[in-house]
Amino acid sequence: MQIFAIYSLLNDKFIGRNNDLIIKDKYDLQHFKSETLGNTIIMGRKTVESLPKRLKNRTVIMLSSQERIKLQLLDNLKADLIVNSPREAINLAYTLNKNKVFIAGGASIYDIFADLLDGIIETRFYRNDFDSNQSGLIELPKSIKNWKETKTKHIVVSELESCVVCRFFKENPSQSQSEV
Ligand SMILES: NC(=O)c1ccc[n+]([C@@H]2O[C@H](COP(=O)([O-])OP(=O)(O)OC[C@H]3O[C@@H](n4cnc5c(N)ncnc54)[C@H](OP(=O)(O)O)[C@@H]3O)[C@@H](O)[C@H]2O)c1
Repeated sequence: MQIFAIYSLLNDKFIGRNNDLIIKDKYDLQHFKSETLGNTIIMGRKTVESLPKRLKNRTVIMLSSQERIKLQLLDNLKADLIVNSPREAINLAYTLNKNKVFIAGGASIYDIFADLLDGIIETRFYRNDFDSNQSGLIELPKSIKNWKETKTKHIVVSELESCVVCRFFKENPSQSQSEV
């Protein structure tokens, strides 16, 4: 099983705003779906709560420190499984035995799992008119930036209609489009 972080990034820095995504782009959402289908996803409680609906054909493991029983009673919970610790999340992902597990946010979850990553899938957006001083902005954790700088062996770059997809690998990637 390989462990990948997957996220969209605005202006090389931001991943969220006021507990919501900072980028809502249909091509990025399609990309997220096609990358993650059939696999396991680990998310923090806040990100799960911000999902518009359940993610089909993927197993979503949600991290929360709150009592499992209380959360499971929530009507519209958009996760399949709830765990109380990062170790439990990874052990459960191994038990599910899919090819890949995707660390899919938010900021606290990317930070926790940074040391365990085999790769990162980053979609990059740029907006010149974006106000980076506004309140409520959530940044990509430094641990992920550090991973890219110190652990990356290969980067594979491809383009979507609206953004650039950068895949950072620890090992040689088997499939390659344009390497930098
Ligand atoms: N750009 C992207 O691709 C992307 C992707 C995903 C999310 N995001 C954004 O990221 C933001 C949310 O990030 P966030 O860091 O505030 O929230 P988060 O990581 O989604 O969720 C935080 C919650 O996860 C649980 N948690 C975290 N660490 C834990 C641990 N060690 N043990 C048990 N539970 C733990 C806690 O839940 P309890 O409070 O229940 O204990 C904590 O409050 C949003 O703006 C979202 O839109 C962006």
